[in-house]
Amino acid sequence: MRNMPKTGRWLLAFVIALGIVGWVFHMKGGDDVLGTAGAGPADSPSAAPVTPSSQPSETAVQTDSPTAPAATPPESSAKPTGPASLPSADPGPADGNPDDSAALPAWAADNLPSRTIRTEDDLAVITNASSLYVLVNKKRNLPSDYVPRDLTVPDVPFSFSGDSDKKKMRKEAAAALEKLFAGAEKAGIRLKAVSGYRSYARQKAIFDANAAAKGAEEANRTSAHPGQSEHQTGLAMDVSSASVGYALEESFGKTEEGRWLAAHAADYGFIIRYPKGKESITGYTYEPWHIRYLGKEAAAEVAESRLTLEQFFGTLEASAEKA
Ligand code: DAL
Ligand code: ZN
Repeated sequence: MRNMPKTGRWLLAFVIALGIVGWVFHMKGGDDVLGTAGAGPADSPSAAPVTPSSQPSETAVQTDSPTAPAATPPESSAKPTGPASLPSADPGPADGNPDDSAALPAWAADNLPSRTIRTEDDLAVITNASSLYVLVNKKRNLPSDYVPRDLTVPDVPFSFSGDSDKKKMRKEAAAALEKLFAGAEKAGIRLKAVSGYRSYARQKAIFDANAAAKGAEEANRTSAHPGQSEHQTGLAMDVSSASVGYALEESFGKTEEGRWLAAHAADYGFIIRYPKGKESITGYTYEPWHIRYLGKEAAAEVAESRLTLEQFFGTLEASAEKA
């Protein structure tokens, strides 16, 4: 009995000691929990650093307004929403093919035709005019006041001399064109640039002249209505060679230079935009001279697919629907 108080004291001391040890472990465990659980919240949607939904609207603001400040090169602005973000946004293979969303390339997400169009005065107007991935055709009009902000004259030989807007391309496209010409030169291929940027007004003058000569419908097989020309984007250049007198004609496609261009354009980020036999899809007859900058990744994918840009975007729309 006399031991009871002693035991009680020991018990009390033990309980106090346990309490202290428990408190110490609790504090230390808190840090560990924070440390290890840190990865958890980071994976959760609320912590996603770049959301696909925020990025496109920024791009849209830049691209919608022709008076917007110099656009961030669209390729670099598209990259953050790229391959890393798309798969992580994919809810997973629960009830579908996990490859469906992976089939949509990063560059395409913000530039699907269905997501980059608005109607204005009954006209389908493009909302991503300053994107490198813009799709311009007879169904998709550039805003009439759209002028690329970063036009520059590439350091390549031209088929004519003197200053002219038609020597210009957008900065990234111009740099790529210089590389393409250097690559051609190295292969013993001599090309000259013939016609690049055209304003809406210039395209109108060209189309009106062609329409006066052969009628609007026939003219439109080879010449775009104003607002419907890729030349207004600053991403297109017509290229020819001495072997055809620097003319823009189908026979260029059969020349050594035309064949080299068709085989190597994609290596430098360009596609032959109006391939042979695809008039019913592109709206234009074969133009082996008209190259369109898309950036290396997209150009390689389009070239490899052997599809027109219209068809390629069609496959992307299908992927996006399935994802
Ligand atoms: N020749 C092409 C289609 C243009 O006029 O833009
Ligand atoms: Zn052209």
